Amino acid sequence: MRRSTVVLQRVGKGEPLTPPKAREMLAEILDSVRSDAPIPFTHRDAERALAALLSTEEMWEAVRLSRVPMRFLCAFWSRLEEKDLLAVQDGRLSLTEAGRELASNLCIAPAWEASCDSCEGRGVDFARLPREVVERFREISRGRPEALQVYDQGYVTEETTLARVAFALARGDLSGKEILVIGDDDLVSVAAALTGAPSRVLVVDIDDRLIRFIREVARVEGLDMLEATRYDIRDPLPHEWRGRFDTFLCDPTESFAGFCAFIERGLLAVRGVGSAGYFGLTHAESSLEKWAQIQRFLLESGAVITDIREDFNSYVTWGYVETMRAWSWLPIRVRPDRPWYFSSLFRIELLRPPSVENRRFEGNIFADEEAATV
Ligand SMILES: [Fe+2]
Repeated sequence: MRRSTVVLQRVGKGEPLTPPKAREMLAEILDSVRSDAPIPFTHRDAERALAALLSTEEMWEAVRLSRVPMRFLCAFWSRLEEKDLLAVQDGRLSLTEAGRELASNLCIAPAWEASCDSCEGRGVDFARLPREVVERFREISRGRPEALQVYDQGYVTEETTLARVAFALARGDLSGKEILVIGDDDLVSVAAALTGAPSRVLVVDIDDRLIRFIREVARVEGLDMLEATRYDIRDPLPHEWRGRFDTFLCDPTESFAGFCAFIERGLLAVRGVGSAGYFGLTHAESSLEKWAQIQRFLLESGAVITDIREDFNSYVTWGYVETMRAWSWLPIRVRPDRPWYFSSLFRIELLRPPSVENRRFEGNIFADEEAATV
């Protein structure tokens, strides 16, 4: 690709925009964004956001492609608009001529994807699961309870749940194993139980609707190994679940405290060295600084990250999108018409007995500065 340093037009005080001036301009924009978005971000986040704007004019698609916290992204868009680098019109976001010149002088290319169409980039083909598992799961999912904001719920597509189960099965984490699912609006427990692979699947969730639903599925489908019981993640893990499972699965809330609550319970619930855990983590609500904080926490807790599958988890847009925190930040208030919220699937494995405490968490563990969907 030709790296353009060509001056497209004169900007500012009649001076041509050059790469050094473009970098200076971006640094100034980012300094001013810092006052609106008190979270960690770097110039690389801005480059990703600009790359997304070079490849789409659809706001929700730009959110997805930017792979940066929405808190930063919306503040960045707003500054670009103020400086006439971005135009928001007819429900679309488009870089102006000056915005394109800035991107060009920063040598930013449009966001480009090379993911596989047949597995939607997951690297796992859920259709390898027995056909009756896939069909029964789709049928059962039709009766699921709707996602509730009060519990920070938001479930993934049926394909995602099936792929997650196929992935765990392929990694040897389900067959003959005792599984703990911590919070299960994704119905991973149901898909896992339908394979007949695990010897036990226990769901713990705060939502009575889900517990009733999963118990009813277990009864109707004759899934004796599938159980569900109520549990508030803020409470210490009950003694009878400690060290009793081989694998845990969860999709934590993304505040650091909320994340720790889920993972600490999971690590305490599994048997120890060799036990595995699964969780999701987004870019929309977690900066790379938070990713680093989480990775440090995992290593210090005795776990190693064995897999990270970017964009593995695709979420069905929840009913409460207009009341989520990020709604007020958006330049265009339209509901998304396709999945836009994705998370990476992480698999971890314990290398030594977990060094975490069975502590009690107080108050609202869902929100932090980077939270967008609570
Ligand atoms: Fe593929």
